[in-house]
Amino acid sequence: MSAPVFILDFGAQYSQLIARRVREMGVYCELLPYDTPWASIAGRNPGAVILSGGPESTLAPDALDIDAGYLTSGVPLLGICYGMQLIAKRLGAELVKLDHAEYGPADVRISAQKNALFEGLGPTLRVWMSHGDSVTVLPPGFEALASTDRCAVAAMGDATRRIYGVQFHPEVVHTESGTELLRRFVREIAGMPNDWRMDSFVETAIADIQANVGSANVLCALSGGVDSAVAATLVARAIGTQLTCVFVDHGLLRKDEAEQVVVAFRDVLHLNVIVVDAKQRFLEKLAGVDDPERKRIIIGHEFIAVFEEESKKIPNVGFLVQGTLYPDVIESKTPQSKAGHKIKSHHNVGGLPERMNLTLVEPLRALFKDEVRELGRVLGLPEHIVARQPFPGPGLAVRIIGDITPDRLHVVREADAIVRDEIDHATLSPHPWQYFAVLTPVKSVGVMGDGRTYANLVAVRAITSEDGMTADWARLPHDLLARISTRIVNEVPGVNRVAYDITSKPPATVEWE
Ligand code: XMP
Repeated sequence: MSAPVFILDFGAQYSQLIARRVREMGVYCELLPYDTPWASIAGRNPGAVILSGGPESTLAPDALDIDAGYLTSGVPLLGICYGMQLIAKRLGAELVKLDHAEYGPADVRISAQKNALFEGLGPTLRVWMSHGDSVTVLPPGFEALASTDRCAVAAMGDATRRIYGVQFHPEVVHTESGTELLRRFVREIAGMPNDWRMDSFVETAIADIQANVGSANVLCALSGGVDSAVAATLVARAIGTQLTCVFVDHGLLRKDEAEQVVVAFRDVLHLNVIVVDAKQRFLEKLAGVDDPERKRIIIGHEFIAVFEEESKKIPNVGFLVQGTLYPDVIESKTPQSKAGHKIKSHHNVGGLPERMNLTLVEPLRALFKDEVRELGRVLGLPEHIVARQPFPGPGLAVRIIGDITPDRLHVVREADAIVRDEIDHATLSPHPWQYFAVLTPVKSVGVMGDGRTYANLVAVRAITSEDGMTADWARLPHDLLARISTRIVNEVPGVNRVAYDITSKPPATVEWE
């Protein structure tokens, strides 16, 4: 694999999108904090550097800045929005604050037709703008490449030094020819080959894992989710039986899920899997607990306790595999990441490495979610694991509002199986991102077979989303909803009413607890 493209992140909402676009061209890239010193990456022989946009103004006294090394390194540079203004400012331009900021669609007129970035793209492009400052006097050596009614320099370039800037956002879909502009910069101006492929990723990752782990034993907490499944499979390819996967069945899984996970990993992929039946233990700890946060905390603690007990039985363990993804890595590094309010205590194995003195192996750290799915397919994982919808760590516990009992678990599990079965078999566009049943604590009166019933209310939740951070309720066809409702009431004992959740996130969350 050739040299990477680095993206310096100044906190734009779209920074990850730039990384995606570059990867989609078959070029490997990494997103780094804006203040990464040039010296720390120079040794990796960068092929190009892209400076992202950001919410701040370069005219502010404490404006975010870059290491001067980038500007003198000779590496091709592309600044987007804030990134362009910063390059301009650092190389001697003049900038002003606009009387009226320019947000949303704008038509840019291309003034330099003989230019590697814009040549042949037509006299105007409809682009997406989001800025309050503008370059008025270009830095020495630069020419203006495009303008709008409000912004005299909507793009600039110095072909000799291969330094370019665009005031608009080529990475968003609303910008006409945006992907093509990025492609021209990366592939033609910077001359990067398109050699980023999953197969080459697998080879490099396997070699890295082998070098890193040596002869030590490695543990992995398998949840059945896509990330841990792919991470475990990749590590097993590298070190075979040195890897032991521990699958804790906490009894809060969906219908037939534990069996499916065991079959897939032990029988099909031949991974070394220890299954711990901890159903009773979790149920006892959760008895009488109806507070959502307490449920989550109990499950998290108990999970760690069970995992620790099992892993003590394996000698010479030095490493723990985690399915950390690229967005999780970036989250904790960008200038935007702030402590924020705690909404829910998410269940993960975060506390384990320190407690057990283990070093982390995170082979998916460079990948986005859909790249992880692609990797899973390349590694031969079954489609029902690779295409799995997200499922929370605390499982069905957060889909039973109120007390968790074996009977209530049975109700929500059966109702959930019906919701999934019906939606999985429907042709929907877009297909909902996540869909499930919730058992509410509400009982209501009904009539069945001429007799009165007083039974449970089940809620159905189906959402569209890209990442679970925001979501909208899925506009499911009425006849599909009718089938789901009829089947739940007829097939699940103890349910006489079904409601559909029509709340987006925010203000609601995806899960009810
Ligand atoms: P919320 O309910 O926070 O859910 O809007 C957003 C997404 O996260 C999933 N979720 C979890 N995932 N551990 C997880 O691994 C958890 O504790 C957890 N809680 C919620 C939820 O299913 C949705 O996809």
